[in-house]
Amino acid sequence: MNRFKQGVKHLRPQRVLAATAAVAVAGAGMSLVSMGTAAAAPGCSVAYTANSWGSGFTASIDITNSGDPITSWALEFDYAGNQAAGSAWGGTLTQTGKHVKIVNAAWNGSLASGAKTNVGFNGTYSGTNTKPTDFTLNGVACNGGTTNPTPTTTVSATVEPTVEPTVEPTVEPTQQPGEHLDNPFVGAKWYVNPDWSAKAAAEPGGSAVANQPTAVWLDTIAAINAPAGSGYTTSLRKHLDNALAQNATLAQFVIYNLPGRDCAALASNGELGPTEIDRYKSDYIDPIAAIQADPKYKSIRIVNIVEIDSLPNLVTNAGSSAGSTQACRDMLANGNYGTGIAYALSKLRAAGSNTYNYIDAAHHGWLGWDSNFAPAAKLFADTAKKATGGVNTVDGFITNTANYSALSEPFVKINTSVNGTSVRQSKWLDWNQYTDELTFAQAFRNQLVSAGFNSNIGMLIDTSRNGWGGSARPTAASTSTDLNTFVDASRIDRRIHAGNWCNQSGAGLGERPKAAPASGIDAYTWVKPPGESDGSSSLVPTGPNNPGGKGFDRMCDPTYTGNDRNGNSLSGALPNAPVSGAWFSAQFRQLLANAWPAL
Ligand code: BGC
Repeated sequence: MNRFKQGVKHLRPQRVLAATAAVAVAGAGMSLVSMGTAAAAPGCSVAYTANSWGSGFTASIDITNSGDPITSWALEFDYAGNQAAGSAWGGTLTQTGKHVKIVNAAWNGSLASGAKTNVGFNGTYSGTNTKPTDFTLNGVACNGGTTNPTPTTTVSATVEPTVEPTVEPTVEPTQQPGEHLDNPFVGAKWYVNPDWSAKAAAEPGGSAVANQPTAVWLDTIAAINAPAGSGYTTSLRKHLDNALAQNATLAQFVIYNLPGRDCAALASNGELGPTEIDRYKSDYIDPIAAIQADPKYKSIRIVNIVEIDSLPNLVTNAGSSAGSTQACRDMLANGNYGTGIAYALSKLRAAGSNTYNYIDAAHHGWLGWDSNFAPAAKLFADTAKKATGGVNTVDGFITNTANYSALSEPFVKINTSVNGTSVRQSKWLDWNQYTDELTFAQAFRNQLVSAGFNSNIGMLIDTSRNGWGGSARPTAASTSTDLNTFVDASRIDRRIHAGNWCNQSGAGLGERPKAAPASGIDAYTWVKPPGESDGSSSLVPTGPNNPGGKGFDRMCDPTYTGNDRNGNSLSGALPNAPVSGAWFSAQFRQLLANAWPAL
């Protein structure tokens, strides 16, 4: 998998929205129908926030179109002081004296009525960084209201209301046997995968965690039925039967087999070529949905974690940035990630009231920059809206899957500064808006709701390997007055670079799986089974040690000095690693030793 980020300078994706036609359709049964054309009624509201640290600031502006749909916009305002705005993300900014004008980007010009977009920029100032108060959008003052539409030709006609038939239902509406819960993790007994459990228990000290629940990865078509000779021992049905035998009421599966999978890395490239969308539907999603729909499994809350890394790769790695790849550009162009995910959401959710979909939302070191944050939420919403059932097919999102980002940084908070300089300016954070996964997941949940998801969605955080305990864990904030020294000595995430993702040296097991641990969070869960490799540290030829023909990604090679996506840093990967998914005993032992909370 690829776990990496793009810095503040990059803005993706370049999806141009079709212009929304300003047409309102009146339903039958209304007593008054207005026909004719009316001039667009403009209206807007603006929320401006700035994160200031004495000399510089990051501004974030939410713009809501409270008027008729628009296809382009220009936001204008004046500063009271000497603020100098830099270039913006989410739009093109020009400043003349105190006057600032931001014109939409290609992808966010069209705003339906009620739609919101976000722009931001970094700036400098001295004295007081007073917020601007008066904004205009397309020349109209933003006060949350709309101006009256100017009718050009209006014809009014009185229509008799349609009489609703009052027919008593003869049959009770069909009830689904199980209720679809807001947070399926609460009160559930989670399935423990016996295959993983046996490997964990066989390691010294492993029995301390061997009864923890972990997710089952359906990472190929063969994983569904586990035929003899496939290398899989337990089919999807067998896992669900095992769950029944355990009296478990919740089981977690990772749906991970998109066409052209893992387009920005090589260790987990999939079996389906970029255009094999039909096979994805018929040979992968349909059989999974059919098994999950079996009434035999109604008592199990089936949690599907949908397609790791795919949409985030379209946000950051499919354009012209140095970290982008042709494979991701191809997947953006052919649309098969979005098509596949919309199909998976529809089919899996329709399998029963007991199925739950959580979409992968990368992690703070990937989407935590404003340039990636809002565009990602928008892409996720656009994708879900294409599912049958739309955003209602989505129960939530998961962050940090198979990654190592610390859950909470106790000594490096986003508002921490050193000698008046924000930690955001450190090399480690590189202007990120978040220092850890919990603050990112909670904020991203809000962004997703703004983008159109239901307000009761919940986040999952994969805490399988983000513990960062052991003797090297800082116990207090550093006293250094040098910004980078302070951050590097205070942070508990001890990776060389936050873009490093493969078999990280020094990592430990994280929070044990737990339901509803924090506001907005449905669960901490172990999705990446601890001890399973992220990728081989050197090329393993196809054969007994690499039956699936997995690729070699140099981010898993400890001698690799990196690329644009990890700041050209050492990979931080452990040596002697087997291919992705294979048991990596040395890594498991390190995870046990560095567990936090300690075992
Ligand atoms: C691999 C999968 C494996 C999963 C869980 C991924 O990186 O590509 O094959 O099942 O990790 O270990």
